[in-house]
Amino acid sequence: MCGIVGYIGNKDAKEILLHGLDTLEYRGYDSAGIYVMDDSQTGHLFKEKGRIAALRDKVDQSVAAFSGIGHTRWATHGAPSVDNAHPHQSNSGRFSIVHNGVIENFAEVRDAYLQDVELHSDTDTEIIVQLIAWFAESEELDTMDAFKKAIVALKGSYALALVDNENPDVIYAAKNKSPLLLGTGDGFNVICSDAMAMIRETNQFIELMDGEVATLSHEGIQIETLAGDVIDRAPYTAHLDANDLGKGTYPYYMAKEIDEQPAVMRKIIQNYQNEQGELEMDPEILDSILASDRIYIVACGTSYNAGWVGKQLLEKTTNIPTEVHLSSEFGYNMPLLTEKPFFIFLSQSGETADSRQVLVQVNEMGYPSLTLTNVPGSTLSREAQFTLLLYAGPEIAVASTKAYTAQIAVMSILAELTAKAKGLPVEMDVAHELAIVASAIESVIDDKEIFEQLSLTHLSTSRNAFYIGRGIDYYLVMEASLKLKEVSYVQTEGFAAGELKHGTIALIEDNTPVISIITDKKTAGHTRGNAHEVISRGAHSMIISMDGLNQPEDAYVLPKVHELLTPLVSVIPTQLIAYYTSLHRGNDVDKPRNLAKSVTVE
Ligand code: F6R
Repeated sequence: MCGIVGYIGNKDAKEILLHGLDTLEYRGYDSAGIYVMDDSQTGHLFKEKGRIAALRDKVDQSVAAFSGIGHTRWATHGAPSVDNAHPHQSNSGRFSIVHNGVIENFAEVRDAYLQDVELHSDTDTEIIVQLIAWFAESEELDTMDAFKKAIVALKGSYALALVDNENPDVIYAAKNKSPLLLGTGDGFNVICSDAMAMIRETNQFIELMDGEVATLSHEGIQIETLAGDVIDRAPYTAHLDANDLGKGTYPYYMAKEIDEQPAVMRKIIQNYQNEQGELEMDPEILDSILASDRIYIVACGTSYNAGWVGKQLLEKTTNIPTEVHLSSEFGYNMPLLTEKPFFIFLSQSGETADSRQVLVQVNEMGYPSLTLTNVPGSTLSREAQFTLLLYAGPEIAVASTKAYTAQIAVMSILAELTAKAKGLPVEMDVAHELAIVASAIESVIDDKEIFEQLSLTHLSTSRNAFYIGRGIDYYLVMEASLKLKEVSYVQTEGFAAGELKHGTIALIEDNTPVISIITDKKTAGHTRGNAHEVISRGAHSMIISMDGLNQPEDAYVLPKVHELLTPLVSVIPTQLIAYYTSLHRGNDVDKPRNLAKSVTVE
């Protein structure tokens, strides 16, 4: 987590850094800071607890600065506070640093080198900057050598940007595991955790790799290995549109992103169709899947929940056994793999550290891998053998909505094309069915007031809530409950409807909200029965059901779509319920407490 930026050039560095941090706020937002160098080469440090807006108020706008570094924080070591906010400085004030990542051996480093150094924060980052100063001052190393020597002593993940007051024309950068890009321009150069943060300045970026260090000046960028071998790497063009970042007329990104889903479905169909209007993707992906004996889907959070729907799609369409795993468990407790596994990584951001550590192991074992991501050029996309893009456009709200539906849509195309390549009869015309889904989503979104009302009457003061469903609806309710709890803070569980009576029904009290999702003909009657069981115990029951399933009169009826694609539509009311509950509880919908959009620590 955390986002870092750096700028050295000919424009107002303060504004460029603050704008970059605004863009990176999704990576963490409990405190922020910048360190800038003015034209008389005096450094100025500004830090504040809370959002970038609070930092902006604190920055002295009269300082004319042409270089600097900045940071927005998601606390790992040390509570959110001004002292723990970055940049951190060495005691002499000579060195200032920003850091994204976690230093695992910070205590050992502190005990080995910094026993006599007074520390001013609870962070692992301060150890890095004090260590650099210690090497520079005690061992009289030049800045680059001190920087490298400190890096060699560190274990863990880091993207770093360092400023030395004695070498004010240079910014130093290094990385291990955490993402870091260097942007190049005419008379300036930049550093950022992701390209969007600097896309207003440049679309030319160079990726810094693990084990490399870089220096940036006005004139250029130099990259070298820790051993001193110079690396010559050409920049790539980032195809991003700064306008995609706006909220338009929406009060929150989450509202905008929910509404964008019909367009995302259509964009996915277009992007995976060839000129003849047939669905198509890299045949090597399909060959590689066909050569495998089992698919392993690995992901976290909402992407993990999408993975369960993907399992259903892949197994039912291709007959290839498919497992779904949490990255944070899989990496450290790997199940017995089959002989020819194929790995699918689902990740909106493409930067999730838990998933990346699995991919690193998969690559070491030499197994084929595919990343489905929304972010071209992201770490998981670069490091997997294959990539399929989601084409959902930037997802800014911390709570994922359109990436969930995009992941399922792309997996449905993957499933159909794999089945075709395998010579299996394919019953579903996916492009046609996704077009029907797009219209169905539109009609549910048109009913948003119904879900606002439901949130107001039943969820805005409730302490807890339940979603229940069976089969594909069970997979959906796992996502529905994650969405509601993360943005509204209502403690919500998603349960297999039939499992309630085996224990959890004990939690049902008068007026406990229980929302049943019913889209599957085979189990509709059973789930309705489970809804009656909770009503008998005082619950406030709400039913969201697919058209044609003999639903009770007061159920909300979803337009009918293909049975394997129902989560694409049934998720919409649950996203709207989460959004309105959060809104009416007065929460910051787009930035729920304690969270960050891109989780770049394990
Ligand atoms: C929840 C949410 C998270 C992410 C998870 C994985 O709304 O957004 O649970 O789904 O952190 O992130 P990605 O998909 O970027 O790997």
